[in-house]
Amino acid sequence: MVKMISERFSAAAETYDRHARPQLALAQSVLSMLPEIYPEQILELGPGTGQLTRLLSERFPEVLIDAVDLAEKMVAHSRERFRRFPHITWLVGDAQTWRGADPYPLIASSSALHWARDLEATLKNVYANLESDGCFVLGMMLEGTLKELHDLRAEIAPEKAVERRLPTYEATKTALQAAGFTLERCKHSEEEILYPTAAAFLKAIHEQGVTGGKVSAGATPLSRSELSRLVADYQDNFAVEGGVTATYETATFLLSK
Ligand SMILES: C[S@@+](CC[C@H](N)C(=O)[O-])C[C@H]1O[C@@H](n2cnc3c(N)ncnc32)[C@H](O)[C@@H]1O
Repeated sequence: MVKMISERFSAAAETYDRHARPQLALAQSVLSMLPEIYPEQILELGPGTGQLTRLLSERFPEVLIDAVDLAEKMVAHSRERFRRFPHITWLVGDAQTWRGADPYPLIASSSALHWARDLEATLKNVYANLESDGCFVLGMMLEGTLKELHDLRAEIAPEKAVERRLPTYEATKTALQAAGFTLERCKHSEEEILYPTAAAFLKAIHEQGVTGGKVSAGATPLSRSELSRLVADYQDNFAVEGGVTATYETATFLLSK
């Protein structure tokens, strides 16, 4: 599973940003939830192409950032892209097991930890990487994300059901508490994003690295005719003026130790 996620995001490294509007909105929400602090060092988990990393380095110029991502190609891509930002160190590692030399005063993550194969174990590891008076700010995609697509897919190919959905809001809060965190603030929202057509929507989520994984794929891929039906039915069922809509359910949490 870890290999699969890292391969999928490595494959999407080149095209991710052009199609990642919901992820950018979540990264901005993560940044806006930060308290008035100026940390000496930051750990970012699952930075991908660096959308949140860029926002963090604008807010905290010159502060050292360790950016740890599972996908080797994503890390290589971002290291090259951010070569003029010597204060950012790009590292390959799994948020569930990676340990810094010393604990960090600030840990941030956006649109990444919902992929964790064991959310509670991952959050426990984040807790261990955090200084005793440090803070952790987390943006998560949640179960309601792409619900229209899931429902339609289940109707078209019920035997090819999606194996695992994203965590729920309640399950995420429970896992955060079990890991030891104190919840300081949170924002839970559901938003509909407009795409020009159903075909453009499916292409966009594929290029975010989202398809082929637990969000929208089952163990067996859809056949060509099932896929055509999915596109046509999505267009019919979810058309609004100007395109089709897709739901994204997200939460942003500010946590302390
Ligand atoms: C959707 S991208 C989000 C990237 C970025 N944070 C953003 O907001 O646009 C998710 C990233 O999380 C990484 N990722 C997934 N599981 C991870 C894990 N267990 N440890 C570290 N990185 C992980 C993926 O490789 C991918 O680069």
